[in-house]
Amino acid sequence: MSQQPQEAPTAKYRKDYQSPSHSITHIDLEFDLYDKETIITAVSKIKQLKGSDSLTLEGEQLKLLGVYVDGKQWSDYKETNGSLIINGLPKEFELTVKTEVNPEENSSLEGLYKSGGAFCTQCEAEGFRRITYYMDRPDVLAVFTSKVIAEKSLYPYLLSNGNKIGSGELENGRHWVQWQDPHPKPAYLFALVAGDFDLLSDSYKTVSGRDVALEIYVDKGNLDRANHAMLSLQNSMKWDEQRFGLEYDLDNYMIVAVDFFNMGAMENKGLNVFNSKFVLANEKTATDTDYLGIEAVIGHEYFHNWTGNRVTCRDWFQLSLKEGLTVFRDQEFSSDLGSRAVNRINNVRIIRGPQFAEDASPMSHPIRPDKVIEMNNFYTLTVYEKGSEVIRMMHTLLGELSFQKGMKLYFERHDGTAATCDDFVAAMQDASGVDLTQFKRWYSQSGTPTINVITSYNSDQKTYNLIVEQSTKPTQEQQEKLPLHIPLDIELYDVDGNVIPLQCNGKSVSNVLNITDEKQEFTFDSVDEKPIVSLLREFSAPVKLVYDYSDQELMFLMVHATNEFARWDAGQMLLAKHIKINVDNVQKGEAFELSESVLDAFRGVLLSRELDPAFIAEMLSLPSQNEVAGWFKPVDVDAIYSVLKSIKVAIATGLEDELSAVYGSLSQDSYSIEHDAIGKRALRNTALGYLCYLAQGNELVKLQYQNANNMTDTMAALSSANQAQLQCREDLMNDFSEKWTHDGLVMDKWFAMQGTNPSEDALGVVKKTMNHAAFTMKNPNRIRSLVGSFLTANPVHFHAKDGSGYLFVGEILTELNQSNPQVASRLIDPLLKYRNYDESRQILMRAELEKLSKLENLAKDLFEKVTKALDS
Ligand code: TRP
Ligand code: ZN
Repeated sequence: MSQQPQEAPTAKYRKDYQSPSHSITHIDLEFDLYDKETIITAVSKIKQLKGSDSLTLEGEQLKLLGVYVDGKQWSDYKETNGSLIINGLPKEFELTVKTEVNPEENSSLEGLYKSGGAFCTQCEAEGFRRITYYMDRPDVLAVFTSKVIAEKSLYPYLLSNGNKIGSGELENGRHWVQWQDPHPKPAYLFALVAGDFDLLSDSYKTVSGRDVALEIYVDKGNLDRANHAMLSLQNSMKWDEQRFGLEYDLDNYMIVAVDFFNMGAMENKGLNVFNSKFVLANEKTATDTDYLGIEAVIGHEYFHNWTGNRVTCRDWFQLSLKEGLTVFRDQEFSSDLGSRAVNRINNVRIIRGPQFAEDASPMSHPIRPDKVIEMNNFYTLTVYEKGSEVIRMMHTLLGELSFQKGMKLYFERHDGTAATCDDFVAAMQDASGVDLTQFKRWYSQSGTPTINVITSYNSDQKTYNLIVEQSTKPTQEQQEKLPLHIPLDIELYDVDGNVIPLQCNGKSVSNVLNITDEKQEFTFDSVDEKPIVSLLREFSAPVKLVYDYSDQELMFLMVHATNEFARWDAGQMLLAKHIKINVDNVQKGEAFELSESVLDAFRGVLLSRELDPAFIAEMLSLPSQNEVAGWFKPVDVDAIYSVLKSIKVAIATGLEDELSAVYGSLSQDSYSIEHDAIGKRALRNTALGYLCYLAQGNELVKLQYQNANNMTDTMAALSSANQAQLQCREDLMNDFSEKWTHDGLVMDKWFAMQGTNPSEDALGVVKKTMNHAAFTMKNPNRIRSLVGSFLTANPVHFHAKDGSGYLFVGEILTELNQSNPQVASRLIDPLLKYRNYDESRQILMRAELEKLSKLENLAKDLFEKVTKALDS
């Protein structure tokens, strides 16, 4: 038999947006839940808005059981691959669509599926179409009523969005609950959960005095791990009232933790569904990083209630409207509750590492993309994290007060509707009077700008001169680049570290310079001595800064810059200089060297009594191997690895006494997640991360592992043993896996250690680990922690010269392409960047991409990325 030629997936373009042909004001859903044959009846009230008497609905992988118009069976329709076209319709009608789906066989975790014993849904971006034929687009907003029917003994809890409006018993041990969400919403915010859970209940009294019932549903036996999520939810509700003046709008808020989930969490109205990773925590099972992640993600989903749900996106190209803004809000939440400097540092690490890398890859796109084949491919670091930086720049340009006025105007104008990124910027501009016309290019232009700064001092005139040039390299889908409006925050210091106020023509001026042209010159007067300049303070724009700092200037800034971020950044720039010099040395066969003065600079930080320990820990952390890789083309993975390791050993050796003293002085008897306690653990474990390379490393790590009373210290020990390949590694790893084999979430930490193991046979270890009792290719968390960490955090072995790492990834992706294309599509990213490597690696990586491109049934997700990469 001849093969059916596979149609190439087609792209959608932002410029082709058309408003919907019909409105749907109400949809009444009924789910008769069965593992293999769930029947969904959807009754919609529909009005024709324009065009003809035909209506096109989206649907995928559905068995259509019947179509009825105003209660009468309808046969004038056509079912095609992906849509249902119904013809001959009246202007206004009630449409009934009956479909059948198979939740148990749904391994893509999109639409209705089973996670463990529970039914749950994931509809963003375009998953509702796997439940019923519908106008599955974010600008169609309807009031949802949902009746959920299932067997009572297995599924005592039947949940959906909004308020419970009815319930009852049926024969055969089944029961039902009906829900109604009074707020009209797009289909992507619909959710249903049915299962048996342990329930943590609490409440929150809003500013206006309404009581909101808060409920967190977790797997049976996990109740002792839900408290931090509850506290984080209450803190989120309070913070949004205080900082943004936004109050919650339903009488209940439910969160369900599930084990099988493609991403972090989902903001479905009144019924968030979470990856259990971002709910479950106690000190025995979760690290400090996990606790902070839970706070951030609970906050993020809660903040979506206003920025995402009350005002949603007109179309998916506008995704950053809700995601960039909501990330900005969750970052501010974490910064207001914890350390602003540490939060900023970690966010900047993400931008400078993986986001810059994405923006230099074949997948480079503006925060508001112009062309999409598979929407799931655009939930990216660019849309989320760079999107947040764009909001942050507006915040910098407007100031908090005007920014909040802009938010208020945005809600006045758009509450209850589907809006665009342009609408948001217009509200900010109109409320503040700040002209954002040129600024808007940040939404349409991809790639990372570079700003080049040259300074000079005129001692006769007492003037200080800054020449700033900006440029953006062409990206794969966008050759031409325009100058952007870049806020550049600077400060000047005299030799003693006093701030020199900025003056132009005798008038004091703002620290934030407006860079708008390709080349600009700024002259500051009344500068009595040659100053030292701090540039791009707070990382005021997501750009690469090029400025010829001397080591002495950077060491000065590490001590004297008035804000912690700038001090950290000076330390990073100092490290960067010496990493680059040494990579060059290694490549030339010359010896590694790190000057005593550089060590002294970090010694000073370590000995500081005023600095926050959490901040010192950040100061002493090297840039990641991936961030460093972004500075070179071609990337020499082995040289970079060896240099980073040499720096660790050099710091450990040079600062041994200070590191040991810090390590010894910071132990804590009891565990708390107060900022202070987290900071002390962070610094102590950073010290361990150096000391483990010295002779006493093995003993120190073993002792810490044995004495740890919390997961943070346990994992710090394990990770040191892993990175430094200590002799105790095997024993500790075995001990851990025996203790936690029953708990996949905890085992993920262990899988990540196996994925990043630096031993000669790293890939062999990964393959063997795939047979571990706790591992399964069905669970995205397991795949990410073992396979994902091998791909992204074990560069030496992933990029093994013989191509074994690439071959392995190719096989994994081939399997996931069938079972879970979304997860496959996230894993493939390192392979797309083959152009960054030497020729022999390029050939091997490309060969894997080519194999994938020829797969039968290549999912749209991989198709889009593979094609772009092969075109590069
Ligand atoms: N909107 C979600 C968030 O940012 C993320 C999300 C998008 C998602 N698509 C998803 C989550 C698919 C799970 C599965 O919070
Ligand atoms: Zn989000």
